[in-house]
Amino acid sequence: MTDLASVDYFTDGNVAQSPFEYFDHLRARNPVFREPHYGVVAVTGYQEVIEAFKNSEALSAVNAIGGPFPPLPFEPEGDDITGQIEAHRHLFPIFEHLVTMDPPDHTKARALLGRLLTPRRLKENEEYLWSLADEQFDEFIDNGRCEFLGEFAKPFATLAITDLLGVPEGDRDEFRRALGAGERSGTRVGALDHEPVGINPLEYLDDRFSGYLAERRREPRNDILSGLATATYPDGSTPELMEVVRPATFLFAAGQETVTKLLSSALRVLAERPEYQKILREDRSLIKPFMEESLRFDSPTKVDFRLARKSTRIGDVDIPAGTIVMLGLAAANRDPRKFEDPNEFRLDRRNAHDHIAFGRGLHTCAGAPLARMEGHVTLHRLLDRMSDIRISERDHGPADNRVFLYEPTFLLRGLVELHIEFEQTPK
Ligand code: HEM
Repeated sequence: MTDLASVDYFTDGNVAQSPFEYFDHLRARNPVFREPHYGVVAVTGYQEVIEAFKNSEALSAVNAIGGPFPPLPFEPEGDDITGQIEAHRHLFPIFEHLVTMDPPDHTKARALLGRLLTPRRLKENEEYLWSLADEQFDEFIDNGRCEFLGEFAKPFATLAITDLLGVPEGDRDEFRRALGAGERSGTRVGALDHEPVGINPLEYLDDRFSGYLAERRREPRNDILSGLATATYPDGSTPELMEVVRPATFLFAAGQETVTKLLSSALRVLAERPEYQKILREDRSLIKPFMEESLRFDSPTKVDFRLARKSTRIGDVDIPAGTIVMLGLAAANRDPRKFEDPNEFRLDRRNAHDHIAFGRGLHTCAGAPLARMEGHVTLHRLLDRMSDIRISERDHGPADNRVFLYEPTFLLRGLVELHIEFEQTPK
């Protein structure tokens, strides 16, 4: 048995597969507890995580995704290290993207993104999602089985964002391949010949979008990319090209893997519990609470990080400036003080919607409406087109001894593969 007190959360392979016991162990010691390996203060209580998210005055997002890695590029001094953070900001991973910014830069960048993710754009995008889901299912439905991440979730999540951003139709298959979301079945061998190999996805995206937007700034057309290229800040000033490119490209980084993980964890439950297939098929309004409970139960973003720029308190614990704080979203979503029997997946859970899988405060997920819509469309179409959905015993073992592999990362929680079998519903 693992000795939980000595676990290194950041490198322990077993805890990456199954983190909840460890989170419970930390919470039992204190919902705000300094782990011994890196001195990271782990917040695992629901109220305490919310309290920390809201305290953006004292907690900087500069280390949001890296946490203790790489180590701080300076030795914190005193009760306010704002100046030190700003002097070294360019040394933090993805410092140029929204999620690591603090006000006032964050406020400006977020406002620009708001120009893109308008209710109207999301509505148009929704129409595309319905047909996209059908096209994706068409690729494998005749087989009676699939590996759901590779054959559906990844391409679906990637193509959803290409549409949101208005990537021209003719370029979308290239994005799908370049972003590791697989080939469309029947794609000609050799189609990749003219494309770069060994692509760094964020660089690839920055290049592609710089190209699109520069062209549209020169010659605006009547399309979504032109709207993005000519977007202005709330004060009317025009952003530098890269200031528009980055919020756009970051959507892929933020919305591809997370959605893939949500869709696959929801389907895993559905495939294991045939009674839910029946209930949801008969009452589609239950798809919504089913998705919310999936977000709570297997939160795709396990943890987020903050760096205390000013000495502060979370719960009953003093947090000196310079402390790395780990906000346990997945842990908070299984806090028994907030959610009764938290390790049970319950469709009738009244407060499932209170989960914090999308974070809270200034950096609350900007793509939550899209993620929810992707889940909604996927489950609807899945129930329309398949029946008797079940886990493949060949790949995951028998019902009493299933084997599911999760990605070995401290940041996200998601299956590596999910093999299912099903009957095709006649049209
Ligand atoms: C189930 C799927 C998703 C989950 C669980 C998720 C989770 C999160 C979380 C927890 C944050 C807050 C990070 C922080 O406070 O440090 C966040 C931020 C963000 N998410 Fe999502 N996300 C999902 C899908 C998406 C999608 C589909 C998009 C866009 C298309 C997206 C775009 C963003 C952006 C732009 C931010 C940064 C917001 C900011 O810093 O102001 N996310 N997401």
